[in-house]
Amino acid sequence: MFELVRHAARSTQLAIRNSHPVTRNSQPDMNIIEIENISHRFADGKYGIEGINLNIREGSLVVIAGPNGSGKTTLLRHLNGLLLPTAGTVRLAGICVGQDLLQARQFVGMMFQDADSQIVGETVYEDVAFGPENLRLDRSQIQSRVKIALRAVGLSELAHQRPHLLSGGEKRRLAIAGILAMEPRVIVFDEPFSSLDYPGVKQILNHILALHQSGHTILVTTHDLEKIIAHADRLILMHGGKIVRDGMPADIMCDVEAFGVRKPCTFRLGLEAESWLD
Ligand SMILES: Nc1ncnc2c1ncn2[C@@H]1O[C@H](COP(=O)(O)OP(=O)(O)O)[C@@H](O)[C@H]1O
Ligand SMILES: [Mg+2]
Repeated sequence: MFELVRHAARSTQLAIRNSHPVTRNSQPDMNIIEIENISHRFADGKYGIEGINLNIREGSLVVIAGPNGSGKTTLLRHLNGLLLPTAGTVRLAGICVGQDLLQARQFVGMMFQDADSQIVGETVYEDVAFGPENLRLDRSQIQSRVKIALRAVGLSELAHQRPHLLSGGEKRRLAIAGILAMEPRVIVFDEPFSSLDYPGVKQILNHILALHQSGHTILVTTHDLEKIIAHADRLILMHGGKIVRDGMPADIMCDVEAFGVRKPCTFRLGLEAESWLD
């Protein structure tokens, strides 16, 4: 059983690595995301996030945790310009998001919590083709990107299926294919494991890790650390629209419960984090 899981992980990782290796033309220690003192005030006057300062190093896998309403989704939506800050700036590889929204959407791929809301195509194929079509690539380039992306997430056989007929896990893999077809450098997963069963969690986790291994910078939000923390190199805790802790997961684990996030079992037992794939 464990061998099977490991084998599946390896094949997923190989498929993704062969399909979309990230070409880095930057310094290894570069901050691919620079967030400087951003706040977002909604139309009703309420602040979703306030005074956020955050730099993300290229190639890292960062977990952003916090209870419902702590501002995780609002923060992520600023990374590709779905929301623009009321104050402050967000820069991607040095370029301000507000200055070039198309570049930002290509640079940061986002998997939303509600996979259904992300579906735009009549078929699985058309859904994945939607992003590259907006980049005005020629037909053969679009076809090649879609084929490679569908193969990487194991959905080639379902290319002509209607997306709404897919299972929850398949819809999330479809969202990942749509992201891959844009060839982004940063991929953001907003609550990627919510309402998935155990095999579904493992499958999505495998994809996240494969994308990380192929050189993408990964951000994952969750209120449930258990499933991902063993793979994170940094943990950011949010509460009330602010960052309240930021550091190595083991160093701030003792504080998570004070901010409404459940401490993973292994940490309760004084052990190291354990992967869900082991
Ligand atoms: N469109 C909106 N209008 C007004 N308030 C909002 C809107 N979206 C989110 N909020 C508020 O902003 C805060 C942060 O929400 P959100 O970023 O969704 O938190 P999380 O993703 O951590 O659950 C919450 O208090 C939420 O009610
Ligand atoms: Mg959210």
